[in-house]
Amino acid sequence: MQKKRDNFSSKFGVIAAAAGSAIGLGNIWKFPYIAGENGGGAFLIIYLVFIILIGVPVMMSEFIIGRKAAQNVFGAFRSLSKSGFWKIIGVMGVLAAFFILSFYGTVAGWTIEYLYLAVKNSFAGKDAAQIEEMFTAFSTSTYKPVIFQILFMAITALIVIRGIKKGIEKYTKILMPMLIVIILYLDITALSLKGGMEGLKFLFQPDFSKVTPKCVIDALGHSFFTLSLGMGVLMTYASYFKNDTNLTKTSISVAAADTIIALLAGIAIFPAVFAFNTEPAAGPGLVFITLPNIFEQIPGGFLFSILFFLLLGVAALTSSISILEVVVAYLSEEKQISRTKATIIATSLITVTGVLCTLSLGPLSSFGIFGLNIFDLLDFIASNILLPLGGMLISIFVGWKLKRHIITDELSNYGTIRLTSIKIFIFLVRYLAPISILIVFLHGVGIIKL
Ligand code: TRP
Repeated sequence: MQKKRDNFSSKFGVIAAAAGSAIGLGNIWKFPYIAGENGGGAFLIIYLVFIILIGVPVMMSEFIIGRKAAQNVFGAFRSLSKSGFWKIIGVMGVLAAFFILSFYGTVAGWTIEYLYLAVKNSFAGKDAAQIEEMFTAFSTSTYKPVIFQILFMAITALIVIRGIKKGIEKYTKILMPMLIVIILYLDITALSLKGGMEGLKFLFQPDFSKVTPKCVIDALGHSFFTLSLGMGVLMTYASYFKNDTNLTKTSISVAAADTIIALLAGIAIFPAVFAFNTEPAAGPGLVFITLPNIFEQIPGGFLFSILFFLLLGVAALTSSISILEVVVAYLSEEKQISRTKATIIATSLITVTGVLCTLSLGPLSSFGIFGLNIFDLLDFIASNILLPLGGMLISIFVGWKLKRHIITDELSNYGTIRLTSIKIFIFLVRYLAPISILIVFLHGVGIIKL
């Protein structure tokens, strides 16, 4: 049964929605925290190389498949290939979506709590140690982070129930540029802090002696995570793209916007880390123990802290709805469950796992596998294993299986745009992307040693 499918109403709506999915906690929360754990500069360079050489071509691949098939991940591979094998991408994608949204909800919950703290003017008059203590006390407590997480998941579900167009476009267009303006203000302040330049050095001066296999696989995993790649999110979005959307340009714009925001976040956070003498490798709490210190210092800090956490929450929402959409599209289009019912089922299950993630940082912290708590474990499996493998298969599908004329038709919008770099694209998706993902992967899990 073919249901009538929505289209995005404007060209900007398309890019806004894809960018809204990509730009989220990955840029402002996760990038600084894992860059800090992996020693800064060298990690940044490896991550940028992955974005350009693997991220962009894999994104273009998802766009090609998604728009051509105009269906969810499972339907897409069914309609483009006779082999049942490619279903595995959809299966891994639904699993990855499930895992990612679990811990994403934890951090998004923290964001709402911080919005609440900002409104109460709770950072005022506190020194760096007290601000850190505030985060530790809150994130390890039993009820509060769970309540905020459930609140966030409920909002995500409500937006997804309302459908794709009304749900996504509206929120992204005005609010995302506002977030950038606030981060720029934080950048300027952070750079003028005494000792702030140390932070810039940390972020931009590579020290390749710090590169470990974990650093490389973290960089690869994060390049997929931050661009929303490898599990069919952007494939599903591209199934709503119009025929005149330029897939190459859109991929490059989304990747560029996403990278710029991550860098701007890093430029705000690391100078503050050094100026206030906190620890760059502080882990998942890094942003929450660093930024309140800057808000304390700037003119209008009270107002800006409210706006910042509000907009960060919205950025998290435009990403979380894209993750939930994968599971909901699967249940409603493949299993013939109504959209509303599918959303409620998916959200409830994810919230249960999500609460375990949240509690794994406090009451359940002694419970772990391979030395990782539940939160880190789900992040590791999803970001560093499922997404890169999904991305590898997607690039192999486009590079080796998909008919060449489908690729040229989609990238050229049926001959209306001139194709200049098709050979490079084919080389990247046929060879470079899959082979480098495989090597990083085998190296990261210790199967091969370089
Ligand atoms: N990219 C988003 C962020 O940076 C998170 C996200 C949304 C995501 N959709 C995804 C990650 C799909 C992986 C896959 O916050």
